[in-house]
Amino acid sequence: MSENSSAVIEKIRNRARELNSEIIGIRRDIHRHPELSFQEFRTTALVREYLLRQGLKIEHDFLETGVVAVLEGGGQEKSGGNMVALRADIDALPLQEENSHDFCSAEKGKMHACGHDMHTAILLGTAAVLAEIRDFLPGDVLFVFQPAEERAPGGARPLLEAGLFDHYKPSAIFALHCLPHLRAGKIALREGSLMAAADELYITVHGEGGHASAPHKAADPVLAAAHIITSLQHLVSRVASPYEPAVVSISSINGGNATNIIPGKVVMSGTLRTMNEELRALMHKRLRKNIEHIGKGMGVEAELDIVNGYPVLVNHPATTRALHQALVAYLGEDNVEECEPSMTAEDFSYYLQHCPGTFIQLGTGREEPEKGDTLHSPFFNPDESSIITGMGIMSYAAWSWLESAKCR
Ligand code: NI
Repeated sequence: MSENSSAVIEKIRNRARELNSEIIGIRRDIHRHPELSFQEFRTTALVREYLLRQGLKIEHDFLETGVVAVLEGGGQEKSGGNMVALRADIDALPLQEENSHDFCSAEKGKMHACGHDMHTAILLGTAAVLAEIRDFLPGDVLFVFQPAEERAPGGARPLLEAGLFDHYKPSAIFALHCLPHLRAGKIALREGSLMAAADELYITVHGEGGHASAPHKAADPVLAAAHIITSLQHLVSRVASPYEPAVVSISSINGGNATNIIPGKVVMSGTLRTMNEELRALMHKRLRKNIEHIGKGMGVEAELDIVNGYPVLVNHPATTRALHQALVAYLGEDNVEECEPSMTAEDFSYYLQHCPGTFIQLGTGREEPEKGDTLHSPFFNPDESSIITGMGIMSYAAWSWLESAKCR
């Protein structure tokens, strides 16, 4: 580690410590006032006001909610126009909180149960830390507070379509997410595929209704639906390579309402998860073929409608390796772990299709895990001591990426 790095680490640690209680307060305020996807008006106003107070520039409103702001570095050796981007998501979930702390959600049926209140507060703290050391920043930092991560098609895609990366050309983008099963104070990284592509499946089986005592005079969509559900698992076990994860889950089935009537129609829905875009395309093709052919073979018509969700999230090797090195310097080797991939999805993947970058998992778990403390649970309750870790690593990630660009 260079002398320069140690000095910057010290400055970041000190400033993060000073800001800690203020940022915890902001997190609790956001937690108390959760807003659903694309309705984050209060949160947007709060973020905007805080960033302007730190001296950041807001040049363009890309979407109705969310904020994009720039911190201009003033480092003497500022390398020509280099920029790094940091992203947080700001929306909440349609869920009733069941915690009993004194900053529970004041909005019925809405809760920050995925930690986006943590992400937002941490990135605000990061802006304040970096604003303090802006004279040492050898480049600019783009802050992206993105709306609507929780509801497909998400906020990242419209933000990109509105020209985010036409206006700004960061050389890397970083984001973090709460990880309740990792202890606070630790973070986890993974190079390559980290999260899955998630596609929604809607299947309709059109048969011909009739008397349940005379199935030979009807075309039974219920029996065909049963065969379809069972056969789809062969795509996972016989089409996907054993080395490539894939999940097909049919999670709803509706049809019929009497013991003695064969219904005319059955509708089902489910999800497809894959970790590889080629396999994803192949699975789409084979799902369609399978469903149609089983229907035909059983004298009914079966159709599949696929709604594409977020793509596979792939952490770039160069940014992930650089980040690993930087965060080991900041947190110590014991606190930087390698994480397992997960079949959940994240729209941070869209940014990574245009810009190298890495999604970081931030440990928010307690020594004694609390019951139900998982993401999307009404009892989700992250350890707030992870906030200072979050501010520190995001600040140091930004500085060290810009600093290393001088030698790239
Ligand atoms: Ni989330």
